[in-house]
Amino acid sequence: MELEHELESGKAKDAAASGGKQRDGFTTALGVIAATLGSAVGLGNIWKFPSITGQNGGAAFIIVYLISTLLVGLPVMITEQMLGRKARKDAISTLRELAPKKQPWWLAGAAGVLAAFLIMAFYTEVAGWVFAYIYKSVVGGFLSTDPAVTSQAFVDLITNPMQSLLWQWVVLVVIGAILMMGVSKGIEATTKRLMPILFLLLVAIGIRSLTLEGAGEGLRFLLQPDFSKVTWTTVLVAMGLAFFKLSTGMGTMITYGSYFREEQNIPGTATKVMLADLLVSMLAGIAIFPAVFAFGFEVDAGPSLLFITIPAVFASMPLGNIFMVLFFILAGIAATGAMLSLLEVPVAFINEKMHISRPVATVITVVLLALIGSTAALSSSTLADVKVFGFTFFDLFDYTTSNILLPVGGLFIALFAGWVWGKDRIVDALTNSGALKNEWVVKAFYVVIKFVTPVLLILVLLRGLSII
Ligand code: TRP
Repeated sequence: MELEHELESGKAKDAAASGGKQRDGFTTALGVIAATLGSAVGLGNIWKFPSITGQNGGAAFIIVYLISTLLVGLPVMITEQMLGRKARKDAISTLRELAPKKQPWWLAGAAGVLAAFLIMAFYTEVAGWVFAYIYKSVVGGFLSTDPAVTSQAFVDLITNPMQSLLWQWVVLVVIGAILMMGVSKGIEATTKRLMPILFLLLVAIGIRSLTLEGAGEGLRFLLQPDFSKVTWTTVLVAMGLAFFKLSTGMGTMITYGSYFREEQNIPGTATKVMLADLLVSMLAGIAIFPAVFAFGFEVDAGPSLLFITIPAVFASMPLGNIFMVLFFILAGIAATGAMLSLLEVPVAFINEKMHISRPVATVITVVLLALIGSTAALSSSTLADVKVFGFTFFDLFDYTTSNILLPVGGLFIALFAGWVWGKDRIVDALTNSGALKNEWVVKAFYVVIKFVTPVLLILVLLRGLSII
């Protein structure tokens, strides 16, 4: 009864804050999982995870990655969702509201909004290539078993300024249109439909890959650890990846947490999402490596694995063109859920904090992104020779977000929760005021977020700044 009363008054407060209208949010427990998993699953699983795993010793890297996820990614994800649900506001306002007066913790939220733009600038470009590849593999005519030919096709795409910009805009229009429909009708409804399709496609392509002759070698590569390849650098790379993978460190999970239902079990939800995300990464590895090995291609081909090696691999197998279309649709779906969550951070901020309607806030965000993103889109063509700190714009955005902005954001969020917000509030928030019987989990979490995560993030950061 009392809980109900509190819920009611909380809702009334939210309603008052948003000008009398009920604040939009995720409507069901499944919807929360779909949206959050939709955010975590992304190009990271398909473009980063397999190639980084390939370069760092396969299964051994995956074990290191799992530990990093448990100690760095997951705790920050839980923290962000917890803070967001408490304040029920955009990322900046959440930190401003929960922090003691005059302490500028909201700066971590502001850094997050900046990071959202910078990540999106290069992410929309890679997503643009994926969309272009869906189109091209349907139209046909660019399948070839010769990596020199597929490599030329990729170079032709990225060095053509008009095509690069065009595909990036296509991506932005799609994402903008979904976001305009709102949190429950746009984000939740879309991810709820897309996530099952993603799993089906992954399983279908995985089976195709595993049933190729010579697939065993690729599977062994993925599952048999070779610890001789693991160095301290590997460990730090794994921590950076864990952070990117779980969409942590920049307010995405604060913003999504603010749409969570009051009775959502946050530690449980975050853990499920983390495990499902890992499953997607592993399935992506199973879809890719056995096929790559079966046809004798190189695994450690870096990011070009996706756009150069994979088309050649598919061209080598029976019915390859169909599987290639499915593969890039899969990548497009993964990228879509992630981009919705990235853009929602500035959209929510502009909408709620600046009192601008959601559709207009979305248009403002998309136009700003088209401007910033064009520098990344043109970084292989018109702007190829423009370098900042020796990076093209594309690499600059990728490097600074993953290695500096996200760890900094995560560090401040962890420090804020562990040292400022404090144990009592954390226990209350994560046990849903005692309704969940998970106190030991919460206590273990508290120790990790207060001591372990910050130390590890400082190490990631020092490496990002090339200090260690
Ligand atoms: N997690 C997504 C991926 O793996 C990318 C992503 C979405 C992200 N939202 C984010 C990364 C917020 C960092 C921060 O592709």
